[in-house]
Amino acid sequence: MLFYFRSVHPCGCQSSTSWISLTLLCSMLCMWTRGDCWSYYYSDTTMNWQKARDWCQKHYTDMVAIQNQEEIQHLNSWLPKKDTYYWIGIRKVNEIWTWVGTNKALTAEATNWAQGEPNNGKNGYYPGENEDCVEMYVQRARQAGKWNDERCEKNKTALCYTAACKNDSCHHGECVETINSHKCVCFEGFYGEKCEQAITCNKEELTAPDKGSVNCTHMYGDFSYNTSCEYSCEKGYQLSMSRPLRCTPPKKWSEQPPSCELIQCQELPPPEKGSMKCSDPLGPSSYQSTCVFSCDEGHVLIGSSSNTLQCEASGSWNASQPFCVAVQCPALQDLENVVISCGDHAEMMFSYGNTCSFSCAPGYRLVGPSGVTCTSAAEWSERMPHCEAITCRSPEGEAHLISQCSRSLNDLRPDSTCSFSCETGFELQGAHTTQCSEDGQWSAAIPACKEIRCPAPQISTGVQISCNPSLSIPFSTGTPYPFGMVCTFSCDEGYELQGALNMECAHPGQWTSTPPTCTVVTCPLLEAPENGHINCSNHEPGNSVQCSFICNDDYVLDGHELLTCDRNGNWTGERPSCQASPSQSIVVASSVAGGATLLSSLSLALWILKRLKRKATKFELNSSSDIDAPAEVYKSSTDSLI
Ligand SMILES: *[C@@H]1O[C@H](CO)[C@@H](O)[C@H](O)[C@H]1NC(C)=O
Ligand SMILES: *[C@@H]1O[C@H](CO)[C@@H](O)[C@H](O)[C@H]1NC(C)=O
Ligand SMILES: *[C@@H]1O[C@H](CO)[C@@H](O)[C@H](O)[C@H]1NC(C)=O
Ligand SMILES: *[C@@H]1O[C@H](CO)[C@@H](O)[C@H](O)[C@H]1NC(C)=O
Ligand SMILES: *[C@@H]1O[C@H](CO)[C@@H](O)[C@H](O)[C@H]1NC(C)=O
Ligand SMILES: *[C@@H]1O[C@H](CO)[C@@H](O)[C@H](O)[C@H]1NC(C)=O
Ligand SMILES: *[C@@H]1O[C@H](CO)[C@@H](O)[C@H](O)[C@H]1NC(C)=O
Repeated sequence: MLFYFRSVHPCGCQSSTSWISLTLLCSMLCMWTRGDCWSYYYSDTTMNWQKARDWCQKHYTDMVAIQNQEEIQHLNSWLPKKDTYYWIGIRKVNEIWTWVGTNKALTAEATNWAQGEPNNGKNGYYPGENEDCVEMYVQRARQAGKWNDERCEKNKTALCYTAACKNDSCHHGECVETINSHKCVCFEGFYGEKCEQAITCNKEELTAPDKGSVNCTHMYGDFSYNTSCEYSCEKGYQLSMSRPLRCTPPKKWSEQPPSCELIQCQELPPPEKGSMKCSDPLGPSSYQSTCVFSCDEGHVLIGSSSNTLQCEASGSWNASQPFCVAVQCPALQDLENVVISCGDHAEMMFSYGNTCSFSCAPGYRLVGPSGVTCTSAAEWSERMPHCEAITCRSPEGEAHLISQCSRSLNDLRPDSTCSFSCETGFELQGAHTTQCSEDGQWSAAIPACKEIRCPAPQISTGVQISCNPSLSIPFSTGTPYPFGMVCTFSCDEGYELQGALNMECAHPGQWTSTPPTCTVVTCPLLEAPENGHINCSNHEPGNSVQCSFICNDDYVLDGHELLTCDRNGNWTGERPSCQASPSQSIVVASSVAGGATLLSSLSLALWILKRLKRKATKFELNSSSDIDAPAEVYKSSTDSLI
């Protein structure tokens, strides 16, 4: 043991007047009751502050921690006077005067500085060394019991104490050293000498709410201080207040028990253009409420993944609320020359129920519906129309019609004009010109071309007709003949043509000439030969005329006995003559004598002359140049030979 020391046991010493006499008594008492009292001790030698603290801690509890004026008074009167005075357990820590034993700041109540202190060595003896430690003037003439700040390296007497508080002195409180004992300052919620009792709250006040339950966690015994009671609700209900109930001093629950309230979801407004059907098993718009959405015709639900919403325990609907929008028909494309009008609301233009109407640019006419309506199937009610240019009907294709128009035939706009003619062989029936009006009608109808035909020719009997091109149908008097047809005529054998050989069907449906006739071919009139007779057959169809000659008696025929009229109108031979037979001629000559001879010579000469003349005469068809002809011709069958 390095140091000699003394100790003080102030237990039970209340009087400040007889400290010394009581010291011995106390010392003895305390020896028996160690642990429940505190005691002071001081060293016999001096040492610096740190060594003094170490010494106190090694042998006792610590340097003294002075708690009140009463204690100061006690120490000042009880301790012996030392020149260097005593170190006490206060030190400047981070510029704050602190009780080192408890590490608590010095309170104003406990402060006991000497006058002018602490001054941190104002005298200036040891510049650079702060006066961070504290000494107590014990038994000093002036300022006895007061404190002074000093340099910690100074050597002074150590003043120690032994604590009365043990670590188990107070259960739920702070042990406070008192001059002769200690006391427990209980923490909140505890009471009793050693703060061993916890306050209790009324268990009956913890009522479990409807649809809920309570679960308490105890800390210091059933329903005592700091017991925490958590309330909870069944699914779909929520607490009116979520904080737990705590048992707080003085014996009171921190809150009223909460109630369980039905979870509410936000009320859903019925959709526009649709309807909503809700079923509420627990309450309107509450947990387990279900709402089914539907839309009016022509509208569809959008904005949600399902048409059924349910209020969940979380208080929100399980999907966002759907809404109804009109179905949209495909947007109408711009059509050439079509003016589309769908109303003023741009967003409604192609929506269900809206009608778009159509019109055409001037000069065009609408083909198709004048309006369409968007149906609930998101389709337009009718096919789209189109506008086509107003044109008059093209005359193209009209049979045999030749048109000449002011514009091309497939673009006959109003004011176009056309003039018409017909192919050859056809004649126009109708207007020669026409004009297209504003509404696409011709001012005069497109004319037609009528085939030109000639009347069937009236053919006399015996006339043969042959036409080119040949008729496809057999000749009949009722069938008109086509334009351009050429008909040629001929006669049966024994007849000759009187009139034109041919004729053509020409404009305007007339033959170029009248049909000819056929007349019987005739030979020149034959006279009976002198001294003879002639006998000619009548003209009969199919039979040629024949003339036979007979001479009078005594005359012999010289030449052909029979002449036939051929089809050319020629006799088949010379007219015969009657010659006197040689015997007879003598008789004649002799009997007639001179006069007779003269007469016969004269007739002979006349006959010869006639023969010569006939030889030189040409008989021609139709010819009337023959002077003799008209008199000599057989007029067909009507004239008698005789
Ligand atoms: C304190 O005492 C020690 C020895 O006990 C000595 O060495 C030291 O110098 C003293 N300090 C002062 C400031 O007197
Ligand atoms: C209390 O003190 C006793 C002896 O004095 C010791 O054995 C014990 O460990 C201490 N308890 C605490 C909590 O410090
Ligand atoms: C009560 O709460 C405790 C702690 O929170 C927990 O472990 C226990 O299971 C709960 N008891 C009931 C019945 O809920
Ligand atoms: C009481 O409970 C509160 C909250 O649980 C806690 O912060 C506090 O430290 C507790 N007090 C005691 C003394 O146990
Ligand atoms: C919401 O709940 C209803 C009813 O149970 C169900 O039919 C629907 O599919 C749910 N919606 C979603 C998005 O889960
Ligand atoms: C003419 O001839 C026919 C027959 O050939 C005959 O019948 C007729 O009697 C004749 N006529 C005369 C006048 O000879
Ligand atoms: C018959 O008459 C035609 C004209 O009338 C003439 O051309 C022709 O030569 C005649 N024939 C005979 C054989 O005399």
